[in-house]
Amino acid sequence: MNPSSRHAAEAALTEQVVQSFAKADNPRLRTLMQSLVRHLHAFALDVELTMEEWELAIGFLTATGHMCDDKRQEFILLSDTLGLSMLVDAINHRSVEGATETTVLGPFYVPPLNVSPADADISGGAAGTPLHVSAQVRSACGTPLADAWVDVWQSDDDGYYDVQKPGQEENLRARFVTDAEGRFSFWSIVPVPYPIPTDGPVGKMLGHVGRHPYRPAHIHFMIGKEGYDTLVTHLFIEGDQYLESDAVFGVKRQLVVHLDDADGGWTASGDRMGPHKRLKHDFGLRASSILNQ
Ligand code: BEZ
Ligand code: FE
Repeated sequence: MNPSSRHAAEAALTEQVVQSFAKADNPRLRTLMQSLVRHLHAFALDVELTMEEWELAIGFLTATGHMCDDKRQEFILLSDTLGLSMLVDAINHRSVEGATETTVLGPFYVPPLNVSPADADISGGAAGTPLHVSAQVRSACGTPLADAWVDVWQSDDDGYYDVQKPGQEENLRARFVTDAEGRFSFWSIVPVPYPIPTDGPVGKMLGHVGRHPYRPAHIHFMIGKEGYDTLVTHLFIEGDQYLESDAVFGVKRQLVVHLDDADGGWTASGDRMGPHKRLKHDFGLRASSILNQ
């Protein structure tokens, strides 16, 4: 077959597959499937995919699926490391003046068991530099939001979340509710950079392409209040060596914060604190679209 009739046959195959979805009742499903086929075929043609590469890809996806259950989600990790999670986040959370930027949820969110009081120490005695966090939650227009719920979670000084340690009780995660002025505060430890899980196919993929698995030090926040979009974000610590090369591309300039040096203060349970780092930050929530209510 000469090159031009080969190209015509390949284009005809793509069109035949695209048309096989033409009768889908759901127009959105039709758009998604037809576009997916066009891009998938274009990719295979672009790189002249070999049979061996196709088999390798099927093996990789199969191994990824085998590493998914209610505790581990290797497909989301794949999406994260390919930048797809952050792209979908960007498409769905276009910047709004006064609203805090969003970033990836990550696999380690678990709803906290109880509401903690202001200035609770969530470190459970974990090693690390003490950190006091105080923040105000406002609407994007600047109105303080009372009674917003605020979930926070972070890794320990060794870079592990409580849910990654068998038998570990809830630690370094908590829920707060904002006061009449929209404020919440807590004691914790300064987070450290840590690697995303590397014991699966995604970790192998990163190794093969010479990418490191590290995320810059961060604290996760999820903040919600009726009438507002739930904010899923992190605060990253200024000066971290991985800010420019986050394994999951989650860093946004606005989310990088400075820690001050401070001394003294009390935890909710009456413990006197010594020298520590201090983080002050304000969060802005965007009002829910009327169409979503
Ligand atoms: C995290 O920050 O917890 C995280 C996000 C994406 C992938 C792995 C971990
Ligand atoms: Fe994290």
